Amino acid sequence: MEEITYQGLTFEPYIRREEIAKQVHRLAQEIKRDYDDKCPLFLCILNGAFIFASDLFRASGLHDAEIAFIRFKSYEGISSTGEVKQLMGLTQDITGRDVIIVEDIIDSGITAAQLRKELDKHSPKSVKMVSLLFKPEALTIGNPPDYVGFEIPSKFILGYGLDLDGLARNLPDIYALKER
Ligand code: IMP
Ligand code: MG
Repeated sequence: MEEITYQGLTFEPYIRREEIAKQVHRLAQEIKRDYDDKCPLFLCILNGAFIFASDLFRASGLHDAEIAFIRFKSYEGISSTGEVKQLMGLTQDITGRDVIIVEDIIDSGITAAQLRKELDKHSPKSVKMVSLLFKPEALTIGNPPDYVGFEIPSKFILGYGLDLDGLARNLPDIYALKER
């Protein structure tokens, strides 16, 4: 794997697709174990989580499971704006449902906190969160996700759904911004 460049910034290989697939399958097994007798609603946070959600949803092997979507935006360039915009509302009723929020990455935790507030208005039966990536040092609000693929330091990363101003989501591997 080689370095790549976006918007004049250099990114180096960070997590390979094989390693991502391994963790996605581990998370899927944990979720299957916890929700086997239920019909959870996976709630994918667009845009970043769509690739992870699709792999995780298929890998869970649950007989009864549904997926819905909601869209938030907080990042511009390589940093959080500190403000979370909801760009698309819930596509499905979550009242009385066991909801599993599917996130690509938890950074400051602001998006997750805002989402939980929004979900609570609709009285779900339970809410848990799975995030492929988690930056513990960056967390300023809320709790760590219930299921975590990788804990990483506070670096900017992209690929496998994660973007730089809309680009690089289609990279099968994850790359990290190179420190100068
Ligand atoms: P938070 O609200 O600060 O926790 O940020 C959450 C959202 O910001 C994530 O769902 C991502 O969409 C985006 N984000 C956070 N860190 C990164 C990163 O390193 N690369 C790309 N997007 C990120
Ligand atoms: Mg996101």
